[in-house]
Amino acid sequence: MASHVQNCRIWRDVVVFDGLQTLKGPQAVIIEGETIVEILPMEKLGGTHYNDYQNMGSGGVITPGLVDCHTHLVFGGHRAEEFEARLEGVSYEEIARRGGGILSTVNATRQASEEDLIESALPRLDAMIADGVCTVEIKSGYGLSVEHEMKMLRVARRLGELRPVRIVTTLLGAHALPPEFSGNSDGYIDLVCREMIPEAARQGLADAVDVFCEKIAFSVAQCERVFEAAKAHGLPVKTHSEQLSNLGGTASAARHGALSADHIEYLDATGIEAMRQAGTVAVILPGAFHTLRETQQPPIEALRQAGVPMAVATDANPGTSPLYQPTLMLNLACTLFRMTPTEALAGMTAHGARALGLTHTGRLAAGLSADLCYWNIETPAELAYAVQSGRLIQRLFRGELTHE
Ligand code: NIG
Ligand code: FE
Repeated sequence: MASHVQNCRIWRDVVVFDGLQTLKGPQAVIIEGETIVEILPMEKLGGTHYNDYQNMGSGGVITPGLVDCHTHLVFGGHRAEEFEARLEGVSYEEIARRGGGILSTVNATRQASEEDLIESALPRLDAMIADGVCTVEIKSGYGLSVEHEMKMLRVARRLGELRPVRIVTTLLGAHALPPEFSGNSDGYIDLVCREMIPEAARQGLADAVDVFCEKIAFSVAQCERVFEAAKAHGLPVKTHSEQLSNLGGTASAARHGALSADHIEYLDATGIEAMRQAGTVAVILPGAFHTLRETQQPPIEALRQAGVPMAVATDANPGTSPLYQPTLMLNLACTLFRMTPTEALAGMTAHGARALGLTHTGRLAAGLSADLCYWNIETPAELAYAVQSGRLIQRLFRGELTHE
């Protein structure tokens, strides 16, 4: 009995945001080992045997561990000079056409060893963990050859062994055209479909496949070839689409059963309807919108009306979103896009998990993984309202207390 109780922990009198909504009235949260046992209203606690349990705290707010479902956390170098050029009026597309942008990070990433990439990514990952993240998706896409894409994915997997965090990996081979394929983008898509995807699948290095569907990247037809190849290898797909223009990549991805379509500032009604029918999650990325000083708003109200689930993520990357603080995105999603604090928080918990196809995290409910954050605030909306560090009292990942 004693050892059983040692493994059982309780928080009393807490406000609980369960991943979708804030529960009414003060709650008790009970976990055993790696798993959530129960969330119950305080008035029902009397008469239960939970009184013997290890007391973890009372008062404050508990949320699921945050889920950052879209990042490019592994990369070489930085792009501060591009930041300055954009402030002087050069557009992101123009920088890409001049061979800078993503390709400058490709150069730096190809030159970096796995150890270099791990060393540079760890402080970024640590900042996210300190901000309450328990699950981070990491994309490749700065290698653009079989060798260097696999290197990036291995680094991403390794980060999950070095830190108490769940890493979900995504192969983004179709991110940009590497210089050696200049003038032959179909040839590069052949490589992605015939070599990269099979190799990532064979080595178990990718959990999903992503594409960049845009004029400066790949066409809808090319992306569809990538979706088919991913499907043939049993990998789910997602997209960067409708970020800079409307090509129809989102609707096409939804027809291919995409887990998510991300950015989508230029998404139209057809795309929204396709997402609704497919159950594709809309991933809202306010960090890239902010950094690019974009003015085209994503169609939040139409997505809301259609009942398309909206996730919110950092898009952490050296070009369009060098922002590594997930809770800042909650604030930006509200101030820039008028999402409600509840929508933003659901976007970085329940819907973020759904965008990754995960069902055992991102929500607080009996039987799910004990991934949770205990915050020194009075109401969940404060997480979106104030941009502030130091509010996290405890973070538990799979029941393990990793921050106190
Ligand atoms: O999510 N849109 C394309 N890809 C990334 C940016 C990558 C980069 O500029 O390095 C994005 O915005
Ligand atoms: Fe991205």
